[in-house]
Amino acid sequence: MSTQIYYLSGTGNSLHVARELEKRLSETELIPIIKVLKNDRIETKAEIIGLVFPIHNLTVPVLVKRFLLKADLRSSKYIFAIATRFCSDAVFSIIDEILKKQGKLLDAYFSVEMPCTYIPIFTLPSQSEVERMENELQKRLDEIQIIVENKRIDREKDSPLVFVLGHILYPMITAYMFKFRFPGMARSFYVDSRCNGCGLCEKVCLSERIRMKNGKPEWSTDIDCVYCFACLHYCPVEAVQIEGRKTTIKGRYHHSEVKAIDIARQKQ
Ligand SMILES: Cc1cc2nc3c(=O)[nH]c(=O)nc-3n(C[C@H](O)[C@H](O)[C@H](O)COP(=O)(O)O)c2cc1C
Repeated sequence: MSTQIYYLSGTGNSLHVARELEKRLSETELIPIIKVLKNDRIETKAEIIGLVFPIHNLTVPVLVKRFLLKADLRSSKYIFAIATRFCSDAVFSIIDEILKKQGKLLDAYFSVEMPCTYIPIFTLPSQSEVERMENELQKRLDEIQIIVENKRIDREKDSPLVFVLGHILYPMITAYMFKFRFPGMARSFYVDSRCNGCGLCEKVCLSERIRMKNGKPEWSTDIDCVYCFACLHYCPVEAVQIEGRKTTIKGRYHHSEVKAIDIARQKQ
């Protein structure tokens, strides 16, 4: 039974989940979404198709939507999705809406709790919290393995409260943020005096909008930001900042088992 897992990952959480599933499922191939998006056509070949991705601004990342609009998933027998943050089933309904055009729906979907990398608003978890999440994750992935191997339908519905948040309030916040807050944020990246010009930010930038100029990174305003935050979190000296978002005092996080090179490789 062959499986292809398509993943998107800015700070390693989703790649870690994809790798852990690869260990658990037989004949599994991991494919970066960024890489296949460069192809004119995306034709999936496996019986089981998995998607693993972060939540961006309470919804499915733009690149995942773009992938779903381009990929031909008609030959698959089973499709599952994993979001690497807790989210409402409204997020998976967005995927269903796109899949419906190919006569498909998600057979199973899951959201797992991993450290939140959105430091403009949230504070990073402590090391013990990170360890607790990892322990819970491992147990959950064992369950997911059984569900996927047996091609079980598993589409858990929201509780009434999460339903109201996820289907009514969050879409309004998402629309507001994408229209008014995110475009400004994309123009507000800069480096402070700690920058040593190593160029790692350019290598990990999934948007390919960073260019080194005179030993310092510059973020192009002509290329859209995909908001992966890889530049921010992988900078070895924590020099990358977002203006006005107190990122100088927020610390940095990336999954301990995912190196900058693994993030950069998604583009190759
Ligand atoms: C731009 C951005 C927006 C995010 N928005 C949310 C959000 O709305 N809700 C949430 O729970 N986590 C949010 N996150 C956190 C990520 O979904 C989470 O940390 C995820 O596990 C990161 O996966 P990755 O390391 O594979 O990129 C956001 C992260 C980024 C960078």
